[in-house]
This record gives sequence, structure tokens and C-alpha cells, in this order.
Amino acid sequence: MPERTGRSVFAADYALVAGTAFADFGAEAESCRVSTRFGPPSGPVRRLAYGDLDVLYLARHGERHDIAPHRINYRANLAALRQLGVSTVIAINTVGIIGDRLQPGALAVPDQLVDYTWGRSHTIYDSPAEGLEHIEFTEPFSARLRRGLLAAARAADVQCHDGGVYGVTQGPRLETAAEVDRYERDGVLYLGMTAMPEAALARELGLEYACLSLVVNRAAGRGSGPIHADIEASALTAKMRAMQVLKQFFSRQA
Ligand code: HPA
Repeated sequence: MPERTGRSVFAADYALVAGTAFADFGAEAESCRVSTRFGPPSGPVRRLAYGDLDVLYLARHGERHDIAPHRINYRANLAALRQLGVSTVIAINTVGIIGDRLQPGALAVPDQLVDYTWGRSHTIYDSPAEGLEHIEFTEPFSARLRRGLLAAARAADVQCHDGGVYGVTQGPRLETAAEVDRYERDGVLYLGMTAMPEAALARELGLEYACLSLVVNRAAGRGSGPIHADIEASALTAKMRAMQVLKQFFSRQA
């Protein structure tokens, strides 16, 4: 299929890129396959309706949820959304929490990143055809979008933590207890596997980007039981809260 450029009928300003907790989301919505100069995205882009507002949705781990974090074609995912006219991406991701500031089930909008990943295609500037720009990344997330998400959470009466450092690990395995100690010394509060290179690529492609993070477990060595028990007990609560925030957020954009 030829690449789509600019706005098409299947177009929107906002997109959600979501992972594990949203694996079943948007399955019945109308979808569109897009090809990009970086190859195919993780799956079809779906169109969700929030009142009068269309929002595009992409499952970053694929429709069958079988693409590991290090195998995701982040470049194609973001380029596909850009081609469909998207200007703003809300990244939904699940994270583990270091420390007692938040409990599993909570939401957060991180304000900083540390990238511990390796071997991922992390930039669009990979060939002379793309040119070269050293993007500024001092503040990795869009301040405007962060404010909007936090305001929506307040309006929806859903607690959502403002700020904190998201440490991006390579996965797909979870961390060792000693790694978590090291990340804590680095100032990391949340651990997840997908915010990089996603955030940097969004910036390179001129997209506004911020994370709405679902805290689903205590980090390795910090809980009282198995991590997956934490996740099972809290993922649905966090997802329902995130959906309330998104509904409120999009009702304010329409
Ligand atoms: N570590 C890394 N990624 C994660 C975690 C975690 O504890 N929980 C959810 N995604």
C-alpha cells in the first residue's frame, strides 16, 4: 500500500499508543493499515470516538500482543500516526513503582526519563536521506500535554501523580532486586519498557508526546509477593482510572 501523507479521511489530531493493560481495547473499531518508510507499524491503526472527537489508537505490542518491547518498530508506529495527521500522542504504559510514594493501581504522568535500553532503532536520523538534527530533549515530555492530562485527572476526580523519573529497561524480563537498587540511586521512580525510544522519536517527528502511566506493581524486590500477583490485582483498577481520565481529557478537546 502506498504511504499515506498529510490528512486523510482516516485522520485525527490525537492518538493513543497503548500496551499491556489495554490489550483488548478498540478491537471493534474501524481500522486502517498504514505503511511507512520504516516498515509496517505494530498493527492496524484504529479509530475511536470520544463524543464528537475521533482519536486514533495503536496497540504497540501488536493486535495479538506478541511483539516484545525490544522488537517494537517504534519508528514505524510514530511515523504511521504522523502520516495520518496526528499532532499529539498520549502513550499509555504500565510501570512498576520503586518506593512507597504510590500504590499499585495508581496513575502517574512522569516528567523525566532515563534510558537503559540498547540495540533499538532509536532515531529517524539513520540515513543521509533523513538529514540530521540534534533534537533538544531536556524536557522529554510535552509540558502542555502533561498539564492537560493532570487537569483531566483532577476534573475526573482521579488521583494522578504529577512527575517522577521513568527508567526505561530493556525487558522483556523484569529486573533483579540489585538493578532496582541501582535505578533508585539514579533517581528513578517508575520502571517500564517502552517509553524509549518512543518519546525521542516523537520529538524527532515533531509530535507532542506524554505518558499516562499505570502503576501495576511494586518493583522487583520491593513487594511482599510475586510481581505478577501485584499486576493481576491492580491492572484493571489502573486501567479503569486511566479510561476515566482519557474520557475527561478528550471531552475537553472536542
Ligand atoms: N519493570 C519494568 N517494566 C514494567 C514493570 C516493572 O516492574 N511493571 C510493568 N512494566
